[in-house]
Amino acid sequence: MSKTSKFNAYVSAVAHWMPEKVITNRHFSDYLDTSDEWITARTGISERRFLEDEQPTSYAAVKAIEILLKKRGITPDELDLIIVATVTPDMIYPSTACVIQDKIGAKNCWGFDILAACSGFLFALNTGVQFIESGAHKKVLVVGAEKMSAVVNMQDRNTCVLFGDGAAAFLLEPTEDKTMGILDSVLHIDGSGGVHLNQKAGGSLHPASHETVDKGMHYVYQEGQAVFKAAVKGMADVSVEIMERNNLKADNVAYLVPHQANMRIIQVCAERMKIGMEKVMLNIHKYGNTTSCTIPSCVSEYYEDGKIKKGDYIVLSSFGAGWTWGSILIRWAI
Ligand code: COA
Repeated sequence: MSKTSKFNAYVSAVAHWMPEKVITNRHFSDYLDTSDEWITARTGISERRFLEDEQPTSYAAVKAIEILLKKRGITPDELDLIIVATVTPDMIYPSTACVIQDKIGAKNCWGFDILAACSGFLFALNTGVQFIESGAHKKVLVVGAEKMSAVVNMQDRNTCVLFGDGAAAFLLEPTEDKTMGILDSVLHIDGSGGVHLNQKAGGSLHPASHETVDKGMHYVYQEGQAVFKAAVKGMADVSVEIMERNNLKADNVAYLVPHQANMRIIQVCAERMKIGMEKVMLNIHKYGNTTSCTIPSCVSEYYEDGKIKKGDYIVLSSFGAGWTWGSILIRWAI
């Protein structure tokens, strides 16, 4: 889809930072009725990383951002805007963008958080793109950062084995080459799905109380099969749609970067796109579902390993609580 703006936004730098503490499947099978075999077969996850108790989401985000700024060779005061996608902000408010801005000393920017669960990074990326395309900003930092270990019930085998912590970021800058950068996006929400995947307490509907804590309402609640079914359809539909409306066949696409929630969802999505698994970016096996961090961390790792080339067409696709889902097409420019 060709855009009417003078500039395209392109990804000028990427970085990720994952916590050092590795939590294997065995960690859970030692105290819960689960097994490495079940977790690996049903999800594709072998291990995940957890932040230490005293390290909040912003800790991981700052680590990733420091790497990114160094790679790009710029200082924090050159940033115009920080957008943070997270479902695990350090606090309800101020925003984690404010916390990060202060920690890195980004004196000349503004910023805000975006909440779209596992689609958070795509929603944040598409938002950042608007500020570049309009000419309003020249350097927009888009961050996906999570401490999911802070919000899952470690006694609930249905959810605790699925998630992990981590952070990753993209820097967006303008280019006049309209064939490069973020080319197209398809994003959706459908609030009717909210009953199947949520974290009920701590907001204005169910303020934190002894009762909400006793009932575990501050933890991730997920009806796995309902989420699975909706995710398979939602993610596959938008991925196919973005390819078709940009006249891309599987051969033209270098990579699908799917949200990493479940290997079986990823496989169905790739099949629907007729894309072989060798062209699907994966890190679910070592990090689990890091919510808003899955997509940027995959891209960062593959770029760092020299697996992404300038000119590659990359399709990012996600599905998450809300429901929220979408797909973004990038032509890699660095
Ligand atoms: N270890 C062993 N057994 C487990 C288990 C675990 N960690 N977690 C669940 N089970 C059990 C269930 O209790 C159930 O037992 P029962 O039949 O005795 O009731 C059985 O396994 C099957 O549960 P089910 O929920 O049908 O499994 P599933 O194949 O659907 O896999 C998920 C569960 C959560 C892995 C899967 O549904 C999923 O990935 N859903 C989508 C998650 C997602 O995408 N989330 C994020 C979107 S952002």
